[in-house]
Amino acid sequence: MTAAGRQLDWSATSALVTGGAGFIGSHLVELLVAAGARVTVLDSFASGSRDNLATVAGAITLRETDIRDLDWATYLAENPVDVIFHLAANAYVPPSVERPAFDCELNFTTTFRLFEALRVLKWPGRLVFASSAAVYGNSVRIPISEDDPTVPISPYGVGKLAAERYLAVFANLYDLRMASVRFFSAFGPRQRKQVVFDLLAKLNRDHERLFIHGDGTQVRDFLYVEDAARSAMIVAANAPLRGEAYNVGAGAEYTIDHLAKALCDITGLHPAFDYSGANRPGDPEKLVVDISRLRSIGYRPRVTFEQGLTSTVAWYASVTGATWQDGA
Ligand SMILES: NC(=O)c1ccc[n+]([C@@H]2O[C@H](COP(=O)([O-])OP(=O)(O)OC[C@H]3O[C@@H](n4cnc5c(N)ncnc54)[C@H](O)[C@@H]3O)[C@@H](O)[C@H]2O)c1
Repeated sequence: MTAAGRQLDWSATSALVTGGAGFIGSHLVELLVAAGARVTVLDSFASGSRDNLATVAGAITLRETDIRDLDWATYLAENPVDVIFHLAANAYVPPSVERPAFDCELNFTTTFRLFEALRVLKWPGRLVFASSAAVYGNSVRIPISEDDPTVPISPYGVGKLAAERYLAVFANLYDLRMASVRFFSAFGPRQRKQVVFDLLAKLNRDHERLFIHGDGTQVRDFLYVEDAARSAMIVAANAPLRGEAYNVGAGAEYTIDHLAKALCDITGLHPAFDYSGANRPGDPEKLVVDISRLRSIGYRPRVTFEQGLTSTVAWYASVTGATWQDGA
């Protein structure tokens, strides 16, 4: 094991990525492989896919596993690793509202059982847990910092917060080296939902008119997926890992209008914008994140908003056959 010291040499490090075939997980696996780490992925392909790992297929160990069925203590005793990135989850709010028991079992109970195995094993490695901005609920403070109140308003948010709280208590009581990363909305290649993908799908369907929810002035933080993945590595390598949580965002403010116009510039389309006018209930006007804690351990977003959108548009075109700039 190499994880005893504060810094990590990734080329001498083994990593387990649960949910590594998913959107953020697959980008994390690519970065880990590029850094020289030995990587194992556990994934059930519930929402992820083998295709997401095509670029690293020969370089990793990929195990199709439903982590709800896993005896973590036995698995980890037989397959020791230096760092665990725990991302496997129901990753979205709506399924947690429709099926709260399912969300609780996968996102909370299974995660708790992982922590319990680490306690029993007196595990010497490091763990980074993928939490979410959903732990804040309708936060009233802008920008949102980690010390703001956590008042989740969805079963998904409650499950993530409960797991975070156990992580913090276990880290301190049992001397386990763990931290949580609170991802804000990420975008990028391989994501087939959320606002960037939705706008691209609409642009692909109709080149003349683009429907936008609200009035376009809603402010959001757009986190490029590769930066999200990199942040998890920086936390694993540089953070104290005493149970603390880190906001992960781009730390920049853009309106939905700015996003839509940027996508039009990149695709070469000039649709008229149709606004619904009213914001959707529960949709905050402004969602901005303070990432100074993450910055303090060495994180800097590397990919600009425009670069991230350009890569996303190129990926979208490659998987859908959209050929905007070629005059389709
Ligand atoms: N994408 C975001 O903007 C965002 C925001 C906040 C938090 N998060 C968190 O980050 C993590 C990754 O999210 P994502 O956007 O990549 O989602 P995703 O759905 O693409 O990835 C989740 C992965 O977990 C796998 N999985 C699901 N159930 C499993 C099971 N029972 N056993 C094994 N594998 C299972 C899926 O197949 C998938 O590959 C999640 O924990 C999510 O809650 C994501």
